[in-house]
Amino acid sequence: MATVQRADGASTSASFTTRPLHPSLGAEVIGLDVSQPLAPSTLAALKDVWRARHILLFRGQTLSDAQQIAFSKNFGTLDVHIEDDKTSTRQREILRVANVDDEGNTMDPSDPRYRYYSILTSVWHTDGSYRVVPSFASNLYALEVPAEGGNTCFADCVAAYTALPAATKARIAGKHMVHSYANTRYFARELPPLSPDQLAALPPATHPIVRTHADGRKSLYISANVARNVGGMPVEEGEALLRELLAFVEQPQFVYCHQWKVGDLLMWDNRGTLHRVTPWDAGKYRRHLRRTEIKGTEIPV
Ligand code: OGA
Ligand code: MN
Repeated sequence: MATVQRADGASTSASFTTRPLHPSLGAEVIGLDVSQPLAPSTLAALKDVWRARHILLFRGQTLSDAQQIAFSKNFGTLDVHIEDDKTSTRQREILRVANVDDEGNTMDPSDPRYRYYSILTSVWHTDGSYRVVPSFASNLYALEVPAEGGNTCFADCVAAYTALPAATKARIAGKHMVHSYANTRYFARELPPLSPDQLAALPPATHPIVRTHADGRKSLYISANVARNVGGMPVEEGEALLRELLAFVEQPQFVYCHQWKVGDLLMWDNRGTLHRVTPWDAGKYRRHLRRTEIKGTEIPV
């Protein structure tokens, strides 16, 4: 079934319609219940829209953990998060992105299981870049959302790379960053340390700053929650380069900020986007999202 992709990002197909969320990023998919198995033609059409728009939004969904997992598996195999106090006690593929525990209790704002997100997801990052084979996509479903704040902002790193000054492109060509899960404890020093087993399971990964995708597009591949070091540069110089690139990427023309509603399912491509959460008051509100992470492929160095 052919999907008609229009220049403005809208598209039509027999089984759903779409609406752009931002000039270059995101499409709302209207008319699909993703709790049910999807026809191969529908799935193929969804993948086409996703490839062009990086982020898909499905509103008004009612999903059990098992249904979210089943939907996610249409796009690849799932990764399991290394910190099991953050994953669901019932389904290890589900990461609880929340100040709510599995029994529905609200966590104290100082609870390290919540502070982890508060510190590490509030800076620009891409999920799973600390893996040697980094994550392809994430799939985040909203069960409870705060009345204010707690938006998730996305930056289009393909558009940002394309728009970089030629001199900057030349400066970063062939450069690599070290993405290390151990750095989560550098950026969030208050968190309990990782165990030797966790550290051994996730040795530092080195990825090119400029990622070339299968279709030839290039994007910036950087992170502020696990990456500090640029190969061949003193640490401070690498940190300055990272700050400079992030300041470029976060310009409004490259950014879409999603204001959550209960029942939203947002699926994003981690290879060509960065994301972060905006501040919200965890002393006043509950925020409960559930995430799956889809495995990617190794990045050629
Ligand atoms: C994530 C993440 C942001 C948010 O789940 O990977 O970065 O808005 N979440 O909770
Ligand atoms: Mn994230």
